[in-house]
Amino acid sequence: MLPREEASRELAREVLGRIAACAAEGRRCVLGLATGATPRALYAELVRGARGLDLGQVVTVNLDEYLGLAPDDPRSFRSEMRAVLHGPLGIPPERAWFPPSDGEGAALAERCAEFEARLAELGGIDLQVLGIGRNGHLAFNEPGAPLDGRTREVLLHEVTRADAAAAFGGLERVPRRAVTLGLGTILEARALRVMAFGASKREVVARALAGPLDTAVPASALRLHGDCRLWLDASCAPHP
Ligand code: PGA
Repeated sequence: MLPREEASRELAREVLGRIAACAAEGRRCVLGLATGATPRALYAELVRGARGLDLGQVVTVNLDEYLGLAPDDPRSFRSEMRAVLHGPLGIPPERAWFPPSDGEGAALAERCAEFEARLAELGGIDLQVLGIGRNGHLAFNEPGAPLDGRTREVLLHEVTRADAAAAFGGLERVPRRAVTLGLGTILEARALRVMAFGASKREVVARALAGPLDTAVPASALRLHGDCRLWLDASCAPHP
C-alpha cells in the first residue's frame, strides 16, 4: 500500500531502469501503456526521469482507443498520450502504437488481426502498465469479456461511458464503441504492473483479488499472471 505519488515513482524507477538496460544492450523495449487518471503521475515521473536516457529502442503499445473519433480529436487516447508522454519524450508515431481505431465490421476485424500479428513480430510486450476500471475492466475488456480474447471491437459498458462523460461534455457524446487489446493479449505481456487508487475502486479491487476468478470481474484475470505487481493506495486497499 502506497500513496499514488510514491507508487508512481516506484514504478517509474522500474520502467526507466528497463529502458536504460535495453539501451545498454541494444535491445528493443516494448512498453504497454494505459490512459486515464491513474497513470498520469507515472507519466510525469517518466518525463522527468528520462532526461538524458536513450529512448531509441522504446516502442510503446497502448491498450485501447475509442472508435469514431478523428485521430487528432483531443479526447482520443492518441491525443492524450501525445500530450502527456509521447510528445514530451519525443517518441515518434511509428514507435507509438495504438490498436486500429477506424473502420468497422470485417475490415476492422482484419486490421485487429494484423495488429496482433505485428505485435507478435515485435516480440510481444515486455512490461504492461494497467489501471482497473470501477467496473473491474482491464483496458476496455468490460465485464463478461473472454479471458482468452484478442484485440477486437467492443461495446463500452455503461459505467465506463459514465466515467468518460465529463471529458466528452455529456454521456450522450461518449462513443459507444472502441477497440481494445484482449485479456489474452494482455496476459501475454511478460510483466504486468497495475495501479488502482481511490475508494471508488475498493470494492471491485477486493473482488478481483479475493473473489472468484470470474469474467464478471475482468481484473480477476490478473491472478493468472506469474509476474504481476499491484499498487493500491490506502483508500483503495481492501479492509483487513
Ligand atoms: P482511471 O481509469 O485511471 O481514469 O480511473 C482506469 C481504467 O478505466 O482502467
